[in-house]
Amino acid sequence: MKIAVLASGSGSNLQVLIDQLHRDENSGIEIAVVIGDRKKAYALTRARNAGVPTYSVDAKDFPNREAFDAEISRLIEVHDTEVIVLAGYMKLFQPPFVRKYRNRIINIHPSLLPAFPGAHAVPDTLKYGVKITGVTVHFVDEGIDTGPIIAQVPVRVLDDDDEESLHARIQVEEHRLYPQVIKWFAEGKLKVSGRKVIVKESA
Ligand code: GAR
Repeated sequence: MKIAVLASGSGSNLQVLIDQLHRDENSGIEIAVVIGDRKKAYALTRARNAGVPTYSVDAKDFPNREAFDAEISRLIEVHDTEVIVLAGYMKLFQPPFVRKYRNRIINIHPSLLPAFPGAHAVPDTLKYGVKITGVTVHFVDEGIDTGPIIAQVPVRVLDDDDEESLHARIQVEEHRLYPQVIKWFAEGKLKVSGRKVIVKESA
């Protein structure tokens, strides 16, 4: 299965997907393209180091967000990918893009959704004072982090956590969970029924 990865930041999740899936010939999973929305995203360097084609697409170069999405869609189609994996991608898609790839866009988010959606999940978590947070992997729908949830893992919030220490422990869980979910998708184990996603162990 060919996948496209979209990233805006450092790309540690991308690196895990490269190391555990792309570089493992037995996984049957190839990262066919990595698209960043910032030229300087370190994720693009990680992809280039792994020999994966990369593109940087800047929203400022397009008249509107539909045109920006259309360019991303074009690149994805050039590379013939079956699923779009968001790995720290911080832009929202417009509804036509989401409809086109319904249940084929997967996102990872550093909280237990529906708590703390959006771009500031970790600071919002600390501000609120919850004791348990975690990681959510979900399909993307038209809302902000509202799509059907595939998997979640809890992470304890410690009294002396700051943003960096909490995010670091969340990322340990992200790096375990994300490759597993992408493998489930590739193996046809994910069945979406309304808001529920069933993981069929023997698909
Ligand atoms: C990850 O923690 C991911 O959950 C988060 O960005 C980080 C990217 O890290 N995504 C969001 O907050 C999406 N709303 P990475 O670049 O090291 O993979």
